[in-house]
Amino acid sequence: MGEKRCLFASTLLDGLVYCAGGWNDTGYLSSCESYNPEERKWSSIRNMNKKRSYHALVSARGLLYALGGWDDESNATNTAEFYDPRNGKWEYIPPMKTCRSGLTAVVLNNEIYAIGGDGLSSVEKYNLDTKTWIDVPSMNEERWSGSACVVDGLIWVFGGRGANTVEFYHPAANKWQVSTKMDRERWCPCVLSI
Ligand SMILES: *[C@@H]1O[C@H](CO)[C@@H](O)[C@H](O)[C@H]1NC(C)=O
Ligand SMILES: *[C@@H]1O[C@H](CO)[C@@H](O)[C@H](O)[C@H]1NC(C)=O
Repeated sequence: MGEKRCLFASTLLDGLVYCAGGWNDTGYLSSCESYNPEERKWSSIRNMNKKRSYHALVSARGLLYALGGWDDESNATNTAEFYDPRNGKWEYIPPMKTCRSGLTAVVLNNEIYAIGGDGLSSVEKYNLDTKTWIDVPSMNEERWSGSACVVDGLIWVFGGRGANTVEFYHPAANKWQVSTKMDRERWCPCVLSI
């Protein structure tokens, strides 16, 4: 990568891998970069408006969205912003209702779900049409740096600090349900649906 970073967030958009924020030996980062697997090359993109670590990054409708995280004072933030690769700009969207660090996020049915965070079981979603945040029922457990993915129209969440449970959200039923337990607690696991 172009820069040393840990606790950054990453996602895929239009064939490129994007990495945003994180921190290094000197502090928190607003810098971002993209990786082109065909050219095997990293390029810098414009910095986010805010330094973020322990945040979430998702792509939806051709844009990147960076949500929450620790700001440069290690406080959880509710700010969120999007990046448009066509003009290379980051712009704020309305803030989340709750400050969240160590959240996880997924996109389902034109909505971005911001899930959990430090000490949080609460969930909210951002509607890409109305550009508003809407409450979603809370999960059964607090999840600090759990992971989530979408499979067949359901949102699955895994672990988090001190958590070994797996639960899923059914959008039509508007309900979370615990599914199973992993064999141990998993903090910052990586999950992927293929
Ligand atoms: C950390 O990031 C800052 C901002 O990009 C940079 O100026 C600094 O050199 C980096 N430090 C290390 C140790 O990489
Ligand atoms: C950030 O957190 C520190 C304590 O860690 C606190 O003193 C400070 O007021 C907070 N800043 C904001 C903007 O809330």
